[in-house]
Amino acid sequence: MNGEQPHSRSDSRLSERVSAIDRSKIRVMYDLALEVADEDLVHFEIGEPDFDTPTHIVEAAADAANAGATHYTSNAGLPELREAVAAKTATENGVEFDPRREITITNGAMEALYLALQTVVSPGDEVVVPTPAWPNYRNQIRLAGGVPVYVPLPAERGFDLDADAVADAISDETAAVIVCRPSNPTGRVYDRDRLETVVEAAAAHDAYVIADEVYEGLIFDGSPRSVAADTAHSDAVVSVNSCSKKYAMTGWRLGWLAGPEHVVRAATVTHESTTACAPSVSQHAAIAALTGPQEPIRAMKDAYETRRDYVVDRIADIPDISCPRPKGAFYAFVDVSALDGSSFEIAKRLLYDYGVVTAPGDGFGDAGEGYLRLSFATGLERIELGLDRIEAMVTAERG
Ligand SMILES: Cc1ncc(COP(=O)(O)O)c(C=O)c1O
Repeated sequence: MNGEQPHSRSDSRLSERVSAIDRSKIRVMYDLALEVADEDLVHFEIGEPDFDTPTHIVEAAADAANAGATHYTSNAGLPELREAVAAKTATENGVEFDPRREITITNGAMEALYLALQTVVSPGDEVVVPTPAWPNYRNQIRLAGGVPVYVPLPAERGFDLDADAVADAISDETAAVIVCRPSNPTGRVYDRDRLETVVEAAAAHDAYVIADEVYEGLIFDGSPRSVAADTAHSDAVVSVNSCSKKYAMTGWRLGWLAGPEHVVRAATVTHESTTACAPSVSQHAAIAALTGPQEPIRAMKDAYETRRDYVVDRIADIPDISCPRPKGAFYAFVDVSALDGSSFEIAKRLLYDYGVVTAPGDGFGDAGEGYLRLSFATGLERIELGLDRIEAMVTAERG
């Protein structure tokens, strides 16, 4: 720059795509908590395992790096890893994918989702999203030039999938429907019949169902079978999954996209053009995660289940707030509508006056207004303290 100031350009010079996206309320709360800068805050806002990655996985990655696995891999990922994903998916999720043609390894499920949407959505296409839903869907749909169409799920039925309402929202304008099972933020595990109604409706309109299954390894009650298993229209389903949640590997950025060959092939070209491949060392770690001992993974899942039961039982004992027992993932979606103000205002009071950080429900779409999402991916002692504080606030405000 030769000491000159760089050009200052106004926001109007930013692309329409990035101007159409905004920050997630989960991150907004995270930043507000940073400003508070109190080490004693109880963090319920972030959906990230508190466990470290199991040792055998870390060691496999270190061995691979020491042995020189530090280069680009093929764009679709190491053949051995694609085979491991195919074997895991067949045995645990009931669906067969050809590892050479129907699986591509990505930088986490976020990139898999991004690739899926970039591949099937043209500008102006609609993407149907049952809500409450993970906020990244909205931004990713907009980045693909798509138009999100939200279908609010019924709070009185614990936000179970209203398959008829979702099917009704699907039309010839629809490019895709995003289904998250188990759901972030509700922990709901939708059953097969409802999912099949949605897949059939999508297939009838030549649309895809993008099945976000990142929490499939953390289903406590219900089947981990993939949305693509058992449907007569598996060619309409694109599955997205990752090592992040089940194996406590968020920072390794390792996921995959699996589905019809033509979708995977096209997505792999976008992947090649944007990131080339998932990190090679992480790919070796993932092989160890998928094919190595599963005992440490089961121990983490058991810990989440114990925490889930503790959270739900404690909330049941606090008058005026409630939450159904989540069947999967590590979130409790708590009805706080009896308290004054919006869920964002309630979350801010909890932060500033009681030292508890939560994710306000409206961050997951209008259907989530009146709720707070609590992540129990944190130790039991902190959970106990956080719930004591929530109880103190509800008692103070409701008398
Ligand atoms: C519903 C959902 N899908 C996808 C992701 C992304 O996971 P990954 O770390 O594999 O990119 C998350 C992460 O929080 C999530 O909650």
